[in-house]
Amino acid sequence: EIFPSAERGSLAVAAEIATLIRSKGEAGQACVLGLATGSSPIRVYEELVRRHREEGLDFSHVITFNLDEYYGLPRSSQSSYWYFMHEHLFDHVNVSPENIHIPRGVLPLEEVFAHCMDYEQRIKEAGGLDFQLLGIGRTGHVGFNEPGSNSRSLTRLITLDHLTRSDAAAEFNGIANVPTRALTMGIATIMQARRIVMMAWGNKKAEIVRKAVEGAPSVQTPATLLQGHPNLTMVLDTEASAQL
Ligand code: GLP
Repeated sequence: EIFPSAERGSLAVAAEIATLIRSKGEAGQACVLGLATGSSPIRVYEELVRRHREEGLDFSHVITFNLDEYYGLPRSSQSSYWYFMHEHLFDHVNVSPENIHIPRGVLPLEEVFAHCMDYEQRIKEAGGLDFQLLGIGRTGHVGFNEPGSNSRSLTRLITLDHLTRSDAAAEFNGIANVPTRALTMGIATIMQARRIVMMAWGNKKAEIVRKAVEGAPSVQTPATLLQGHPNLTMVLDTEASAQL
């Protein structure tokens, strides 16, 4: 779906999420959301906060699982995804803290595997992801599934691509401060979501959007591995769709 602006696209995505949250609440069911960070979803979260404040959108039955977190960054770091999610969404809505899940950035290497398997288990116990929100990195990553990630991958520790780290350099005051590793849900974790919405805005994303949509499925561009999902929509602005 191509929108004339990121603003219009973001409002449409927020409207879909709000409708899902409401209908799950009316049915007395939990609403399990997979959430993303980065600049792309910021306006979506802002709109959800507005709907909570002005329309009473209720998050009490919402359970969230974030895609990823930098390895080695404490929650208190302003560059952590934990910090980002609280700043942009969780601190402003009535989601219960025990329903918020974000991979832990600080834990010893020997505990990483168990933590990742526990993350997978918690998603299953919540009933699976009803909805997964995604951005796309210029390497073709979703979450932090960098080139080389295959379709069977689950939550795990990965090494970040140089391009990804250079794109994050501004937030960390220089590439030297950008962590080299991250924990991320896998491609298989994401593919199990019942609904996926991937957003991309601006001309910097036009080339990777073309590859993701028109390229043959390949581990070299992990976003192409989502092409077989039965219920995925890419939401683009005109600029991001320019090379399609
Ligand atoms: C980071 C995140 C991804 C995100 C990507 C794109 O690498 N781990 O989940 O999709 O950035 O970020 P942006 O939306 O800022 O372009």
